[in-house]
Amino acid sequence: MLKRIALTVLAVCTLGTVSVQAQKNESFRPKEVWNDTEGNPINAHGGGVLYHKGKYYWYGEYKVGETVLPPDATWERYRTDVTGVSCYSSKDLLNWKFEGVALKAIKDDPESDIHPSQVLERPKVIYNKKTKKFVMWMHIDSPDYSKAEAGVAIADSPTGPFTYLEGFRPNGSMARDQTLFVDDDGTAYQFASSEENQTMHINRLTDDYTKPDGTMVRRFIGMAREAPAVFKHDGKYYMLSSGCTGWDPNRAELAVADSIMGEWTVLGDPCTGPDAEKTFYGQSTYVIPVQGKKNAFIACFDMWKKKDLQDSRYIWLPMMWDEANGKFSIPWHAEWDLSVFKKK
Ligand code: DGJ
Repeated sequence: MLKRIALTVLAVCTLGTVSVQAQKNESFRPKEVWNDTEGNPINAHGGGVLYHKGKYYWYGEYKVGETVLPPDATWERYRTDVTGVSCYSSKDLLNWKFEGVALKAIKDDPESDIHPSQVLERPKVIYNKKTKKFVMWMHIDSPDYSKAEAGVAIADSPTGPFTYLEGFRPNGSMARDQTLFVDDDGTAYQFASSEENQTMHINRLTDDYTKPDGTMVRRFIGMAREAPAVFKHDGKYYMLSSGCTGWDPNRAELAVADSIMGEWTVLGDPCTGPDAEKTFYGQSTYVIPVQGKKNAFIACFDMWKKKDLQDSRYIWLPMMWDEANGKFSIPWHAEWDLSVFKKK
């Protein structure tokens, strides 16, 4: 704590302007402003993290500018214009270097899926070992969310630039909140809230990861799950998700399956501590397997600020594996670091 205060007073005053020197992050502090290595707030919402060749890459919605409620809105569909998908890199998961906007909005074509006037949410990137391409999937929508499509972009480098390929409804079905998961055998899947967000569709992808291969299953039927984050532990598949209440928080839920397209069993809410029933005012977006540590996962949530989306914060918390009970929990920590995983 003292160290942090000492670092904070390193504010530099020059001719009436005050700039805070970039400082090293020593711990995760959920809900607080999280600065990148240049001292700017990290701007990567609804994001996902890829581990590639010794580095983590965090991709997210680059929300810049004013949040507006469109005049014709019949529900709280607050929005910012699409700017693109940001990319940050890190070796320690705490200190993130801004690598730029890896997929940029297409400003000169009003018909483009990623024109500023549209919706681009929940980008996730996976690496295809066969094609050596980085493949990004995202939720693409019209401003009134009636389009409900998935968009796909590819790049040769993790930091981009990504080239937008196309948007479509996977296997002809609606797709809104989404995530990607690559299994140990290299097969990739997209999980998407479909059927007006009532049912999760699990779409298996083609070998190059750019399209659904035609095999899909409907799961969590009529359960209205959003914000899926999928990970694997000890041969089992887990899906962390939220309920469906717009930008407002609700209760999280964890589910497990023996096979990814098989039957899923709901385990309940893994969050514990103050405001656990509202996911600590967050909404799931990704679960990061921490490299080099056993049973170590970080649950990543967005804490949306619906009237100022750019200032939405992040809640990253350790997922603790209880060996005795064979269960995951996500206990609240106001401040923590990766040493929590060693204690178990
Ligand atoms: C909840 C979703 O999880 C977010 O990604 C976003 O689509 C909001 N709804 C919009 O209200």
